[in-house]
Amino acid sequence: MPEDVRWSTRPYDGHAINQPLEPDLELLQVGSGTPGGEYFRRFWQPVAMTSQLGDTPVAIRILGEDLVIFRDLEGRIGLLHKHCAHRRASLEYGRIEKRGLRCCYHGWHFDVDGTILETPGEPEDSPIRHTICQGAYSVHEFKGLVFAYMGPPEKLPDFPYYDSMDIPDHDMVPYSIHSPCNWLQESENAMDPYHSVFLHGRVNGPQFPGLEHFVALPVVAYHKRPEGFVYSHSRRKDDLILIRFHDHFLPSMAQNGGMFQVLSEPKVFSRTSLTKWVVPVDDTNARKFGWRHFNDKDEVLRQGNKDEVGWENVDFYGQSAHRSYEEMQSNPGDWEAWTGQGPMNVHKREHLGTTDEGVALLRAKLRRDIRAVAAGEDIAMPHGTPDKPFHTYGGDTVLRIPKDNRDDRAMMDRVQRAVADIYFAGDAYEGEDRADYIRSEVGAAFQS
Ligand code: FES
Ligand SMILES: [Fe+2]
Repeated sequence: MPEDVRWSTRPYDGHAINQPLEPDLELLQVGSGTPGGEYFRRFWQPVAMTSQLGDTPVAIRILGEDLVIFRDLEGRIGLLHKHCAHRRASLEYGRIEKRGLRCCYHGWHFDVDGTILETPGEPEDSPIRHTICQGAYSVHEFKGLVFAYMGPPEKLPDFPYYDSMDIPDHDMVPYSIHSPCNWLQESENAMDPYHSVFLHGRVNGPQFPGLEHFVALPVVAYHKRPEGFVYSHSRRKDDLILIRFHDHFLPSMAQNGGMFQVLSEPKVFSRTSLTKWVVPVDDTNARKFGWRHFNDKDEVLRQGNKDEVGWENVDFYGQSAHRSYEEMQSNPGDWEAWTGQGPMNVHKREHLGTTDEGVALLRAKLRRDIRAVAAGEDIAMPHGTPDKPFHTYGGDTVLRIPKDNRDDRAMMDRVQRAVADIYFAGDAYEGEDRADYIRSEVGAAFQS
């Protein structure tokens, strides 16, 4: 039997495809020293919610590393290797001090940057504390999430400020949810607009109020960006063309359109309801961190519920483990789809089709960027400041364009690509000037 057999043309021939196959470790491994792990360590990523930080240190695991995170009594956040540099006791049992954290075992005292402030059992003139540091990482606290950079300090990028971190009138509520599977499975779900047709529509019935039209197969366009992808999917609803834009910036930041929408009137450049990152815990666990955006204009149904957004919970269908098995089976959601692929999906066993173009594009770019980092090259990554934020595009545009006797799907494709071009031309402007430019240009082009 050839080693790489992964399909059979014969009925009742499961035996032909039951051979063990290796997962694509180049893409899926995240530990230190692995190509994917070193790649991930070039980016700022959320690692905790600030609501987790209380009177005691919190043990967390990110990129296969065991860590503790805490806020010291001066209000500074520390992210340290979990095991003490002295004799490896766990700092989760440590004492939070005015400055930093003290190990419970022999009292070594660490500042938030890993500097050893005190080794109380050692002689006064002991050189130990001047010659080593506890492992530590840079952190940045923002709107209820703590971001960390776990790569080499000399490669530390500025914290990337996205425009969606400060949209006027958006109330952003942080949340975090665990998935017991490799990070890429959940991330790929956000590059797969076709799953909405089936998982959230045809197979299980509509799961998102206001988006019942998602049962129609969309016309999809992927707009490549240096940092990842923006893609759009369009559908017709009577005289309207509904265009939804998604952001997918590598490694795993994603944004989509409005969650509780009624797309029944023309609108241009409405903004996202969701900003999220899928962060690897280790090779077979991931944790999503993000914000739900609450805004009456972009979520006209107002069915969102801030009280349901937080630790292990978010206020829309099928996103966490908290349902009974019977419920999961009778009406599975996204969480069941990506965790059901197993702890580490074996891509060689898949059979990709036309609906998987986004997944294939994502894997190809991920592989290129992983290899570039391994070769010592720089890769494109989001950069932005509060004054000049990194632009994102996730959200909805609805245009009134009645059907005529031309090929409607070809027309929708032309329209969404023209709208995308206007979105990208709007990058010359900032803030409301940018939104005004996009709205007036789309209006001029399509008289919506
Ligand atoms: S193991 Fe931490 S001070 Fe000894
Ligand atoms: Fe989904």
